[in-house]
Amino acid sequence: MNQPKRYTITAALPYTNGPIHIGHLAGVYIPADIYSRYLKLKGEDVLFVCGSDEHGVPITIKAKKEGVSPQDIVDKYHQVIKDSFSEFGIQFDNYSRTSAKIHHETASDFFKSMHENNKFIEEVSEQLYDQEANQFLADRFVTGTCPKCGYEEAYGDQCENCGISLSANDLINPVSAITGNKPEKKETKHWYLPLNEYDSWLKDWIVEEHKMDWKPNVYGQCKSWIDDGLRPRAVTRDLDWGIPVPVKGGEGKVLYVWFDAPIGYISASKEWASENNKNWEPYWKDKETKLVHFIGKDNIVFHCIIFPAMLKAEGSYILPDNVPANEFLNLEGKKLSTSKNWAVWLPDYLKDFPNQQDVLRYALTANAPETKDNDFTWKDFQTRNNSELVGIFGNFVNRVIVLTNKYYQGVVPPKNNFEAVDINILQEVKKITSTISNSLEKYRFREAQAEMMNLARLGNKYLADEEPWKKVKIDEKRTETIMYVALQVVSALAITAEPFLPFTSNKLRKMLNESKLSSKILWNDLAHAEELIPVGHQISQAELLFVKIEDETIEKQLAKLEASKLANANANKEVEPQKELISFEDFTKLDIRSGTIIEAKKIAKTKKLLELSVDIGLAKRTIVSGIAEDYKPEEIIGKKVAVIINLKPVKLRGVLSEGMILMTKNDEDKLVFISPESLDVKSGTTIS
Ligand code: MF3
Ligand code: ZN
Repeated sequence: MNQPKRYTITAALPYTNGPIHIGHLAGVYIPADIYSRYLKLKGEDVLFVCGSDEHGVPITIKAKKEGVSPQDIVDKYHQVIKDSFSEFGIQFDNYSRTSAKIHHETASDFFKSMHENNKFIEEVSEQLYDQEANQFLADRFVTGTCPKCGYEEAYGDQCENCGISLSANDLINPVSAITGNKPEKKETKHWYLPLNEYDSWLKDWIVEEHKMDWKPNVYGQCKSWIDDGLRPRAVTRDLDWGIPVPVKGGEGKVLYVWFDAPIGYISASKEWASENNKNWEPYWKDKETKLVHFIGKDNIVFHCIIFPAMLKAEGSYILPDNVPANEFLNLEGKKLSTSKNWAVWLPDYLKDFPNQQDVLRYALTANAPETKDNDFTWKDFQTRNNSELVGIFGNFVNRVIVLTNKYYQGVVPPKNNFEAVDINILQEVKKITSTISNSLEKYRFREAQAEMMNLARLGNKYLADEEPWKKVKIDEKRTETIMYVALQVVSALAITAEPFLPFTSNKLRKMLNESKLSSKILWNDLAHAEELIPVGHQISQAELLFVKIEDETIEKQLAKLEASKLANANANKEVEPQKELISFEDFTKLDIRSGTIIEAKKIAKTKKLLELSVDIGLAKRTIVSGIAEDYKPEEIIGKKVAVIINLKPVKLRGVLSEGMILMTKNDEDKLVFISPESLDVKSGTTIS
């Protein structure tokens, strides 16, 4: 075998202020895991690291909200996130955290080394300050209008609408996220990385070297930042949560979270090395090592411009070879949102779909937002499972394993004489597996996974064409050949499935009794080996790989989302203040009765008014009601309503109205009649 190639693979360190949702998984962690598993299967020398990003304003804000310390927040979510990753088979070599001692040291040393070599500018300038909170406002502590795109909720470090990276002073009409106050300005000293000095170097490196091999979305963003002109960027902050600035004059200040976090990749590598008796340096300093950062698109500028400039300035590190950033995943047509609880959280998924991690991995990769934003829908999830995983993959594997056990007590039969179909399918398998390799190496994970499924499809077709269950009665030799060939395809599937469906691949290897083979089947065997599983080898019993997902299950998930929608709409709606107190006597003055609408017609030349005739038991009453925008007359005939019958009659557009129907407004602002269902709105909604 060739000398293995060395890879350092990183996945963005998640902010430790909440659990992980499907957007994170689809955009960053699944592709990174597929890539790393693939390279490891190929026998390459791979270090795959990640960890918790525990500094930064989002964590401080969450802690303030919950009335606990930032440390409490990160301790809680570090564990939650770490568990989710391991439950979903995201197989890091090390999952570290930026509060670790080794990280504080590594980041401090990095800063000191740059400082000693005069790589920073020190500058006193006026920064936004919140008098009431007694704090400088940077990053997510301040929001305002984006100077580039006009988005009104841009943060002090970045506009999430257009992606541009900002400084707090760039915001138009800034507002403190802590108190809602308009900030003042106050002088303070900070250290800046003069990005402008790296301008031509970045141009050469990105524009000249990576125009062709970086994804167009990544390259395009970088190019536009460079073209817009780069400016010095502060790498320190006036905060108390973070890594203390380790040089004179830095008292009371910390490193900017985007300065320390990417160094976390290096700290995680060091930690891994010390725990495994390895040397971390070749993974970060040897030019032959390929460094690949997996991230979401909102992290592009930090990984393609700022961190590389830091690495370059420090001087002893390699630069990323590629940054295959993904676009965003939407959920049922709407942007994923933590604050609006519009998400599928991994711990929740596992509760509802125990042991079905591979199904989610599969559905997310099939819909990965590789080249554009993409949508996750529960319906698609169900179809991917039922028609592809159950219908194609599971079905094929099951038939082969069951028949082998039935006909040959689980022993791989002799191959006898191949016919053209047999030679063809085995060649096709080799072709498909090299297509998969090719796609994976180009970071095209959806395509690679689709090819993997094509292997199962091919196998199914072969069985359907060759019909071993019929031939077994008439031609034993031919049946043996067919089953031998089918078992080779299953073996290829067991290996190629591993990056995508690691739990399934594991089960499959067990069914094939792979541990009893003289050597493990390797990825490189797929394209070259004469056979993957030899004649005479004893396999095990079939195990269930996938189960059908019923409509009901999907409806439950949709109902959950509906509930968050409602809760959100309610949270956004203002509750009217209470009116003046009244006496019981006042109340008894109202005469409220049940009634039935028996006639309804529009009042000419009005938009809103319907003339109703309502049976209130005593008589028929004419009531003018302002509901014409929400109801057609024919819709409400026969409707049961609550009516105040002793309001003084008033004339509206020439019609005398002798009462009033009680109504409320639902969350879509539609008028609805009072009923138990219509009261399923935010408590405090007025009835009038
Ligand atoms: N915590 C950041 C986010 O969730 C990502 C940090 S990536 C690192 O957007 F490079 F800084 F580690
Ligand atoms: Zn913007």
